[in-house]
Amino acid sequence: MTSRLNETHPAGAAPGGDEPYPQAGRERMIMPQPIALLGNGATNPEKELLARLDARHVFMMGDNPALPRMPKAPTLLDFFRLRFSDIAFRHLLQSAKLALDAGHGEKVVMACLLHDISNGALLRTDHGYWGAQLVGPYVDEEVAWAIRYHQALRYFADESVGFKYPDAYNAFFGPDYQPPEYIRKAYEEARNHRWYMTSRLITIYDVYSFQDGWHIDPEEFTDIIGRNFRQPKEGLGFDGSPVAHMWRTMIWPNNFL
Ligand SMILES: [Fe+2]
Ligand SMILES: [Fe+2]
Repeated sequence: MTSRLNETHPAGAAPGGDEPYPQAGRERMIMPQPIALLGNGATNPEKELLARLDARHVFMMGDNPALPRMPKAPTLLDFFRLRFSDIAFRHLLQSAKLALDAGHGEKVVMACLLHDISNGALLRTDHGYWGAQLVGPYVDEEVAWAIRYHQALRYFADESVGFKYPDAYNAFFGPDYQPPEYIRKAYEEARNHRWYMTSRLITIYDVYSFQDGWHIDPEEFTDIIGRNFRQPKEGLGFDGSPVAHMWRTMIWPNNFL
């Protein structure tokens, strides 16, 4: 990941400029997100951190120096470069590139480019639904719909287009795993919908193998994004849209409140 960030933003060229970080001179404590502390044996540090509060200890609010600084008006590709995990970054670009090289239209390419955006830097659980919501105000309705339903379609084969139940899912969940009822229902809804194939194509280009030395420059998608993603001039997170808070959560994932 480091090499990717360095490539895009060489030292001294941080997009957010050289402004000082907030809460200067104090230790900025980070409280993990509650959802990351549930059920995994992690100790919830909230009481201990609250007990440490004094003139020198505060909870972090605003830019975290441990993260690459985001520009004031972040674009979609800024999130790709500065916030997404390395796996999500590569996975989404590869998926979009495969769709593009196969000759699909821009809606399909966009759906592939954005399909796992939620697991990129926000939440894995129900990622199709979160991802569809994140991009909903900025893309064609069909693109958001396809992203929402790809989560369910991944569990169900479609021999007519050569899609089999993923080997990766046998490894991830065990060969006897059965998806829950709401996923089955979502699959049925999608199967009977006129946009079914848009979502199905996401599952076809949803490939988790990367070649050594593989590299796709995200700039390759700048024109397609320009035509298919209504990038707000205020930046993602600051346009007052119903999902702006979700983008801000990725900009400042360590804010206490
Ligand atoms: Fe996915
Ligand atoms: Fe995926």
